Amino acid sequence: MKQIGRCRAHTNIALIKYWGKRNNDLFLPMNSSLSLTLDAFYTDTSVTLDSKLETDEFFLNGTKQDKDETKKISRFLDLFRQTANSEVHAKIESYNHVPTAAGLASSASAFAALAGAANTAWQLNLDKQTLSTYARRGSGSSTRSIYGGLVEWTMGEGDISESSHAIEIDDASWDIGMIVIAINKHKKKLSSRVGMKLTVDTSPFYPVWVTEAKKDLIAMKEAIKRKDFIKLGEITESNGMKMHATMLGATPPISYWEPDSVKAINKVKEIRNNGIPCYVTMDAGPNVKVLCRQSQMSDILDKLKESFTNDQLICSAVGEGIKQLTDTEWSY
Ligand code: DP6
Repeated sequence: MKQIGRCRAHTNIALIKYWGKRNNDLFLPMNSSLSLTLDAFYTDTSVTLDSKLETDEFFLNGTKQDKDETKKISRFLDLFRQTANSEVHAKIESYNHVPTAAGLASSASAFAALAGAANTAWQLNLDKQTLSTYARRGSGSSTRSIYGGLVEWTMGEGDISESSHAIEIDDASWDIGMIVIAINKHKKKLSSRVGMKLTVDTSPFYPVWVTEAKKDLIAMKEAIKRKDFIKLGEITESNGMKMHATMLGATPPISYWEPDSVKAINKVKEIRNNGIPCYVTMDAGPNVKVLCRQSQMSDILDKLKESFTNDQLICSAVGEGIKQLTDTEWSY
């Protein structure tokens, strides 16, 4: 009999950013980060162990992937093979549910879903915290997609892999949402991985970023305890800007912004100045994400529509953590 694991994971957007590794092989970060899991964007993945296969086979959205793409997945699955003391290969089928206009990278949901499916396929029964340390080795940000709501990824200690994992700190059920303003859906020219390494290696501002991120995290966790949305938003916006400022100090300088990113930021400020609290954050691309109250989303959307088209604006509620999918839930 073939062993199958099927799992859904949602993407997440960092409110306190991860930008830089202290150990590139183990994906150990320079600072702890904190994110919001989003309901609107997710990946469904199945892993089928098959002793007849001589290599892993990887299908993305129904299309068989080339050797290089498959190799990345195989290397990741080796972590599970080692733990299970197994040599069997797998067929991996992955479906990304990210509106095409969003242009959001899906590595966070991809590796979290793959980790969840592999855990079931190899019958490892790893708990979520341990699983988050495995997901981390595929892509740092996927550590946080194991859980729903507001999630911290603790940096951990030294080179101890198990110490750097995710924790769900709050279910974010206090009127929180996010609007993605899609500026450009094309694949980014400089990956986060390369961009963050260049920043760590060459930006004179980098040590200041690390100190600031640590302070911001402490303040944000206090704001979350108090359910203080305004403070949460202010810290989110300030932390994201500091990350981008740090990148500008790299040699050569890094900027993911486009003219319309600035247009979006200014529009959000205008909405805020007119009395509706909403705050921007940006990742390694030109798209702008707006943290807002779920109950004020439609008012904000109306205002954003003055400057952006309908299909550039995608609303999301708070998402949940990874979930195993049953046969009937697997609808492909
Ligand atoms: C700007 O997780 O994509 O989105 O660990 O090298 O795969 P790797 O990088 P990745 O970086 C995400 C960077 C970010 C901020 C964040 O999500 O915290």
